[in-house]
Amino acid sequence: MKKICSIIAVSILCMAFTGCSQAGVQSAASTDEEIPQSRNDDVVNASVETQQEDSSSTESEDAGQQTENFADMNTEFDLEKGTVLLNNGIEMPILGIGTFRLSDEQAENSVYWALRDGYRLIDTARIYGNEAGVGRGIQRAIDEGFVTREEIFVTTKMWTDDYDDGDSAIENSLNRLGLDYIDLMILHHSAPGSDVGAYQAMERAVEDGKLRSIGLSNYYTPEDFDRLVEATTIVPVLLQNETHPYHQSMEMKEHLKKYGTVMESWFPLGGRGNTQTLFNDETIVSIAEAHGKTSAQIILRWHLQAGNIAIPGSSNEDHIQENYEIFDFELSKEEMQRMTGLDRGERFADY
Ligand SMILES: NC(=O)c1ccc[n+]([C@@H]2O[C@H](COP(=O)([O-])OP(=O)(O)OC[C@H]3O[C@@H](n4cnc5c(N)ncnc54)[C@H](OP(=O)(O)O)[C@@H]3O)[C@@H](O)[C@H]2O)c1
Repeated sequence: MKKICSIIAVSILCMAFTGCSQAGVQSAASTDEEIPQSRNDDVVNASVETQQEDSSSTESEDAGQQTENFADMNTEFDLEKGTVLLNNGIEMPILGIGTFRLSDEQAENSVYWALRDGYRLIDTARIYGNEAGVGRGIQRAIDEGFVTREEIFVTTKMWTDDYDDGDSAIENSLNRLGLDYIDLMILHHSAPGSDVGAYQAMERAVEDGKLRSIGLSNYYTPEDFDRLVEATTIVPVLLQNETHPYHQSMEMKEHLKKYGTVMESWFPLGGRGNTQTLFNDETIVSIAEAHGKTSAQIILRWHLQAGNIAIPGSSNEDHIQENYEIFDFELSKEEMQRMTGLDRGERFADY
């Protein structure tokens, strides 16, 4: 029954969202995927009804079914369009602008420049204190006709202090951003004891149409990820973890496959204060020279070809433009292997 409703849900969803690519429709329908998240009321209602009818199954059986349904999902990036089809049938851009450590004013400008240059993905968080600036940058770009609201994908994060009142946290982020809905909200950090309740608040907001997709950040072991998934209903669309050439997150990426969950890299360039370590790495420098590109561009292109959504942070207009100019070249298989060889399981952050 659950699977039948899923097929209906896929059809409704793909008719409802114009951004859903034809290839994506075929992929999802042919593998009989479940659609766990949507703003579309029909889909949500179908999902809720199905869960009620299916009340005889246990929580762990449900978790098993979710895994089974997503196992064959095609989460390959479309490098021509610069998007990936998430496990809920929604299309997401794979290169975005990050705003960690940016003031409200810097965030406003960075977001505005990014949208002008072609970016469609924006990453912020309540704890960055710049959601209002991000919202202003979006509004400026919309007012000047660079983009429409529907064309952009806005991500924010719920901070751990707010986990006990997730409903208010979501309302407050919506208000600060000045948006009617948020494309993706993720829990900022794992917090056994309070993150399940926070995630359930996000699930309710999906039903209410306030959030389109939900996911996680900073879950570094399969066990911790499964703990959250098994206690909740909607499978996370992505996991945002520190990921870069020196910390390639291979174990977690392998684990995510069974959920159709994609990896998103924070510190994609190593993070403020660490970028020169990666930019001067001799392997990266030599690949950059071979392509006539900068080290930053090589690293970002590697992220996309390796299947990591990347959200480089910058307050510099030139860097923002440079970071988007990575769709006109390709790393060879041999170059990708050399990049893979740089993995040393080394994180730059200690949280
Ligand atoms: N979930 C989490 O816990 C978490 C944690 C950290 C970050 N994040 C998110 O991930 C995003 C990315 O991480 P991040 O911003 O901390 O680190 P990052 O993107 O790895 O690096 C940002 C640094 O790179 C520099 N940079 C960017 N493009 C450059 C270029 N083309 N050439 C030279 N330097 C360049 C920036 O300086 P300029 O400003 O001078 O360009 C800045 O110093 C954040 O902005 C945030 O949205 C999430």
